[in-house]
Amino acid sequence: MIKIKTQDELKLMRQACAVAAEVLDEISAFIKPGIATRDVNDFAAARIKSHGAKSAFLGYRRYPCVVCLSVNDEVVHGLAGDRELQFGDIVSVDTGVSYKGFIGDNARTVAVGGCGVLAQRLLDVTEQALDLGIAAARPGNRVTDISRAIQEHVEDNGFSVVREFVGHGVGRSMHEEPQVPNFVDRKSNQRLQPGMTIAIEPMVNAGRPGVKILKDGWTVVTQDGSLSAHFEHTVLVTDDQPEILTCPARTLSKLKVT
Ligand code: MF3
Ligand code: CO
Repeated sequence: MIKIKTQDELKLMRQACAVAAEVLDEISAFIKPGIATRDVNDFAAARIKSHGAKSAFLGYRRYPCVVCLSVNDEVVHGLAGDRELQFGDIVSVDTGVSYKGFIGDNARTVAVGGCGVLAQRLLDVTEQALDLGIAAARPGNRVTDISRAIQEHVEDNGFSVVREFVGHGVGRSMHEEPQVPNFVDRKSNQRLQPGMTIAIEPMVNAGRPGVKILKDGWTVVTQDGSLSAHFEHTVLVTDDQPEILTCPARTLSKLKVT
């Protein structure tokens, strides 16, 4: 069942998402060459705590880290450890927090210091795909309209979307209905209605779409070793333009949609 949020619930959802957004900004600014992923995770823990929030990921199905840090060919669910980030790496930072009973979920891939032209194009196309997906999150449209907007933009640019992991409804629980795939899937064609809150999160590979899970049981990597990027926002479907809950300052007019 899809949960339509009340105005009271939305007030809290906005707060949880604002915390998730601020923490993701703080983590992005913290990432520099020479820093170990464990230090990024520790920093994230401190920032989340300072807001009076909790990680939505730590302990979820026994996930062992506070945030997901996925480097280069890692797609999602990467684990923090000794690895030192190097100039030119790209790191996908996925940050979900629980605050006042609600979850805010967002992600972004950042370059460590700087990155090559292919990597930069991958980041740009993935973020644009997210923006196009958000722009399609309007009442009257269906989930497949979001999926199609994302998939077409990614494939028109020669990249591919991951099939095994998808966006999702989000609220009191991290994963609610509906699933929001980044490719057109007839099974996910629910109508979008005002009051739905969904996490839209394209995962885009520079090469083939296939992924595999490493022996640690969590880290998802591209099968062909190509780079991967991930951008995510929690979005509220309204009567009118979608509200990007994890980017309170940004309106649709500022979306990079042409
Ligand atoms: N944003 C991801 C998701 O929606 C993060 C989950 S990581 C996990 O599924 F560790 F909590 F599983
Ligand atoms: Co998510």
